[in-house]
Amino acid sequence: MDCYKISLSFILLAAGFLNACLPVNEDMGNKAPEYFVPVPSSSLQQEDFPQPERNYLSKEGVELGKTLFFDPGLSANGKVSCAGCHLPEKAFSDGLALTNIGVSGLALHRNSPALFNLAWHDGLFWEGGANDLESMVFGPLTHPDEMAADLNKVLQYLNSHETYPQQFQEAFPTDSITSAAVARSLAQFMRTLISDDSKYDQWKREEASLTSEELKGYEVYKEHCSSCHKEGLFTDLSYHNNGLDSSYPDPPELEGLYQGRYRITYKDEDMGAYKTASLRNLYFTAPYMHDGRFTNLEEVLDHYESGIKTNGTLAPQLENGIVLNAAERTQLLAFINSLNDYNFITNPAYQK
Ligand code: HEC
Ligand code: HEC
Repeated sequence: MDCYKISLSFILLAAGFLNACLPVNEDMGNKAPEYFVPVPSSSLQQEDFPQPERNYLSKEGVELGKTLFFDPGLSANGKVSCAGCHLPEKAFSDGLALTNIGVSGLALHRNSPALFNLAWHDGLFWEGGANDLESMVFGPLTHPDEMAADLNKVLQYLNSHETYPQQFQEAFPTDSITSAAVARSLAQFMRTLISDDSKYDQWKREEASLTSEELKGYEVYKEHCSSCHKEGLFTDLSYHNNGLDSSYPDPPELEGLYQGRYRITYKDEDMGAYKTASLRNLYFTAPYMHDGRFTNLEEVLDHYESGIKTNGTLAPQLENGIVLNAAERTQLLAFINSLNDYNFITNPAYQK
């Protein structure tokens, strides 16, 4: 059995680090290799769909994960589901800077990120505090300001449910429902959240064309943004300090809240660094940044142009800001809008 130390930055302010010693990695004889990949990856340019051998997708596993994702019954007060903070119509973000819809009613310290193309992420959360989708699940599920669930009660709820026992049996060859199976099915569902059908993707596949404005914006993007928001996923899946703050106070009770990835790695160069957010689907996912401080893209571009705070770990590309003229700004925004995937947010496979 592997014990995960899930360092869920946002989450673990009061509760301290959660040492989840759960049998996530234990071989449950999952139904490999009978896996199915729901959407072919196209402009994401991936040869193979990444999924761990111990948790291959199965149709039953994905469907079960979806049911769990939308089920408020997992939470302590029966009111908060994963989808409460990750809404399909907002590309699985929630439109709030810092949500307070969790069981405690207290505001979280991080913006709820959009969820898509996570199969390719090797670090989850803004600071990369969890390594895979299986282990991250217990964070939101048990945190008092999110779903506040007691895992034993979750298992009781599921085991005495009308339909879950059979669904679990079909998805995983286990006699009783385990928390590992809960995590695995949720992880399977989240791996299927693939957004690769924006106008940009269709253009890459030669099914649509971009306007000359959008094409000029593409050049602006390539020059100024692509080093971190790397083409394809539109994130390099790495961590950078993009100049949001000039200092990183460390009040003891907040466990490094303002220190970014440093609180996970304790490496000096990670001070104030966060995971590069994707530029896909931004139309649906405002407000922006790890704390939702910018309400629209104009504010984001103003930040990159004149709001960059110098500090010891600022990414070198941003030292002089990114200054665009009015035409370039309009072009860049037009290109960014071509990355909105309407088919993703309306895909029936992802709706309740
Ligand atoms: C009360 C709101 C809330 C609920 C409920 C919630 N989340 Fe989240 N979720 C967040 C916030 C806020 C973050 C960002 C935390 C951080 O990075 O420190 C997050 C982060 C994530 C991430 C990381 C995404 C990335 O890009 O790294 C995943 C995956 C995720 N949540 C899945 C889930 C699942 C599955 C559930 C249900 C078991 C769930 N969430 C329930 C608010 C919520
Ligand atoms: C040095 C790397 C780097 C460069 C260059 C860069 N970004 Fe970012 N960007 C980041 C990081 C890191 C984040 C996440 C920061 C955070 O939330 O604390 C981010 C966040 C964003 C967000 C917020 C997305 C969200 O979902 O919250 C937008 C929008 C954005 N960048 C747009 C751009 C644009 C447009 C350019 C080019 C003009 C650009 N970035 C250049 C690293 C970079």
